[in-house]
Amino acid sequence: MKTNTEKFGVTPHQPSLWTRADALKVRADDPTTTQPLVRADFPVLSNDVFIWDTMPLRDLDGNVTSVDGWSVIFTLTADRHPNDPQYLDEDGNYDILRDWNDRHGRAKMYYWFSRTGKNWEFGGRVMAEGVSPTAREWAGTPILLNDRGEVDLYYTAVTPGATIVKVRGRVVTTEHGVSMVGFEKVKPLFEADGKMYQTEAQNAFWGFRDPWPFRDPNDGKLYMLFEGNVAGERGSHKVGEAEIGDVPPGYEDVGNSRFQTACVGIAVARDADGDDWEMLPPLLTAVGVNDQTERPHFVFQDGKYYLFTISHTFTYADGVTGPDGVYGFVADSLFGPYVPLNGSGLVLGNPSSQPFQTYSHYVMPNGLVTSFIDSVPTDATGTQIRVGGTEAPTVGLKIKGQQTFVVAEYDYGYIPPMLDVTLK
Ligand code: FRU
Repeated sequence: MKTNTEKFGVTPHQPSLWTRADALKVRADDPTTTQPLVRADFPVLSNDVFIWDTMPLRDLDGNVTSVDGWSVIFTLTADRHPNDPQYLDEDGNYDILRDWNDRHGRAKMYYWFSRTGKNWEFGGRVMAEGVSPTAREWAGTPILLNDRGEVDLYYTAVTPGATIVKVRGRVVTTEHGVSMVGFEKVKPLFEADGKMYQTEAQNAFWGFRDPWPFRDPNDGKLYMLFEGNVAGERGSHKVGEAEIGDVPPGYEDVGNSRFQTACVGIAVARDADGDDWEMLPPLLTAVGVNDQTERPHFVFQDGKYYLFTISHTFTYADGVTGPDGVYGFVADSLFGPYVPLNGSGLVLGNPSSQPFQTYSHYVMPNGLVTSFIDSVPTDATGTQIRVGGTEAPTVGLKIKGQQTFVVAEYDYGYIPPMLDVTLK
């Protein structure tokens, strides 16, 4: 019998492993892999809403695309509640941190536009209330399909469950701005299967989200990356020699690391439109290393596949650690084997003095990395913080072979287009 991968003309593959030995090489505060300090006097995009995960409009090859000279970004967004009694503390002051920490439960997809690739103007909600089938609209990818302005927004419909979905609409421009029309019919694509990707029934803390569709530069087929966990009941995973890797004597103890089971998933489309998908085995697993490899995405450069994914300190397993930030892996072909960039995988982490300053980094093919500001200390002890919910300064990376280097810093939320499409 043919396996699914053979049926679709895709080479069967073994997932690459991010091992405990790789993660032992992570060095926080290495200046070449550390995001410059974000100052506490940052500007905010909006006093009405928090924004976090930022999704630039792009084409299927990954190029950040403007339309008729307008740059467009989509963001996960939630209202700020400075006057809501629910978010006032005992003294009647706005508890912004609690409001911010609650945002995931009410995340909605919004869009913004700009003539300059920064100073974003508020567009509004992409889908009207009631269109999306679940409570939460979580991260994904807006794809500009053609010069008629058609856009496929892939995203994650969460609570109940977690389903990768898409909704088609259109971007319309005028001299004065941009609007999104349509986005009325959400199509469910797939959910975790319990065989390759962990389900909610197997683990209440499962992750299955963040679709990133792309056209493979080599075989031209349509694929999709997403975040998952390796299938199996919580606690049943084995952290063996392969997952441990080549550790020095004294580093064999894996503690409770069997509970950390992140993976980068991949699916292949059976049709040209991306309405019909087949999940394939994960590209990369982090069993025994980390529980979350979020928002996976590619940069195709120098004939190589640069796979980036964001992760947290708190999701690392016993005995390994690293900063919140973006991690990366490189391979000569789509299905690997993938090798951690910079030896460890760490590409851009927060400085240890400001461990939560930014998150949800997205590496664009021009080497620019956008992220959002989470919280920045306002005093020397780090007990006072300022919550962000806004765009962080963009960072410039140089990607060379198996190494990356921080080489530049730009303005807040600077996401310049790589190409412009004139709409017909
Ligand atoms: C990353 C992330 C995504 C998810 C969203 C939920 O910041 O955790 O994986 O889609 O935020 O708010």
